[in-house]
Amino acid sequence: MTAHTDPVPFDSGFVQDLHARYAELREAGPVHRLVNDSGLPVWVVTRYSDARALLADPRLGKDAQTIFRLVMDRFAPDAERPEAEDGRFAGAGFDMHMLNMDPPDHTRLRKLVVKAFTARRIEELRPRIEQISEELLTAMAGESEVDFLDAFAFPLPIRVICELLGVDESRRDDFRDWTNKLLDDIDAEASAQAAGDMAQYLTELLAAKRQRPGDDLLTALIEVSEDEDRLSEAELISMVFLLLVAGHETTVNLIGNGVLALLRNPEQFAALRANPDLVDGAVEEMLRFDGPLMHTTFRFTTEPITIGETVIPAGEFVWAGLAAANRDPERFPEGDSFDVTRDPHGHLAFGHGIHFCLGAPLARMEAQIALRGLLAHFPDLELGTAPENLARRNSSLIHGLRDLPVRPAPLS
Ligand code: HEM
Repeated sequence: MTAHTDPVPFDSGFVQDLHARYAELREAGPVHRLVNDSGLPVWVVTRYSDARALLADPRLGKDAQTIFRLVMDRFAPDAERPEAEDGRFAGAGFDMHMLNMDPPDHTRLRKLVVKAFTARRIEELRPRIEQISEELLTAMAGESEVDFLDAFAFPLPIRVICELLGVDESRRDDFRDWTNKLLDDIDAEASAQAAGDMAQYLTELLAAKRQRPGDDLLTALIEVSEDEDRLSEAELISMVFLLLVAGHETTVNLIGNGVLALLRNPEQFAALRANPDLVDGAVEEMLRFDGPLMHTTFRFTTEPITIGETVIPAGEFVWAGLAAANRDPERFPEGDSFDVTRDPHGHLAFGHGIHFCLGAPLARMEAQIALRGLLAHFPDLELGTAPENLARRNSSLIHGLRDLPVRPAPLS
């Protein structure tokens, strides 16, 4: 089988019907060229074994400077390129983070953050996460119908990540607004404005933390960077930006998509109720079945790469189609069915290779606590007034719902 010769439009029709579209592509061939609304072509790899191999392949790069150059070459080859003082192309202001870097810079930044973002620091958050989860669930009780995203799935992760970093409570709503605008990338102007506002706030926040150190991750990052003198101010701001954005919207949609899967599969919900020991496995199955990212972030080929019978030339963009790979029947039999008793280990929802999600233990802990709380408070939770197909958000990366109406208890 070869890939489609004409690029497949990656538009809102695709995003709204993600799994069916990915399944079609996966059956038709291992790699396809998609083109987004702005005309940027990207190759997407749809099968599990190829996607996993690709994510560990050093012939693919992530360096933001090269990505910026490739985009400019395609869309505005003659345009003057904005250059920063250090000779780099100026980007959004906080693009100097590890998800935008290749070794050795990636290795240096990841090592530093790992020193501050320890397993102990995450475990210490457990009682606080349980408390926040309890508060939110208690507030839902007695309601006949609520939007589960508003009432629970959004506030939990944003409160946790702000607490972890030491961000002022009063700015939580701003953060939600900024990350929303950044990721729902349809309105470029709103997105740029949000990026600017966030950069300004983070600069002020870092200055304040230097004055008044706290017992938080941000202070730890500042200390680590000063001790080792190996993290520039721009890298520090970019790191905080990455942690906030990567750590928030993803977890929201793991919880939202996961609860939808339970409500649409009442026999699975019943199995969990009967045996809460299945919760940790159920979270993994939620990640596999309907994880929060459609695909990875952009990588580019540094040399031609062959997948099946297709040669992707050098200098082209590639995505690993996580949602397609996670339902590949070759790896996960009956991949389209949600089964909390299956063994979903090896799923790619957190990526693979050197950029494997740094926050996976935190995201898992939050989702497990959320699910246990939900089972205890609302064992009869039901889908509220919802159309057959709940609308998905208009993002080109995040696979999440616009809203999720639920009834905490059956209507009496
Ligand atoms: C990287 C998924 C939660 C921080 C990634 C990647 C994926 C991912 C797929 C790799 C992207 C790529 O290779 O292009 C998820 C999912 C989450 C989640 C599904 C929740 C369910 C979090 C949380 C944090 C976090 C809670 C931090 C608090 C990061 C960071 C990276 C990353 C820093 C970049 C790592 C690197 O470049 O070395 N995540 N993530 N993520 N994630 Fe997560």
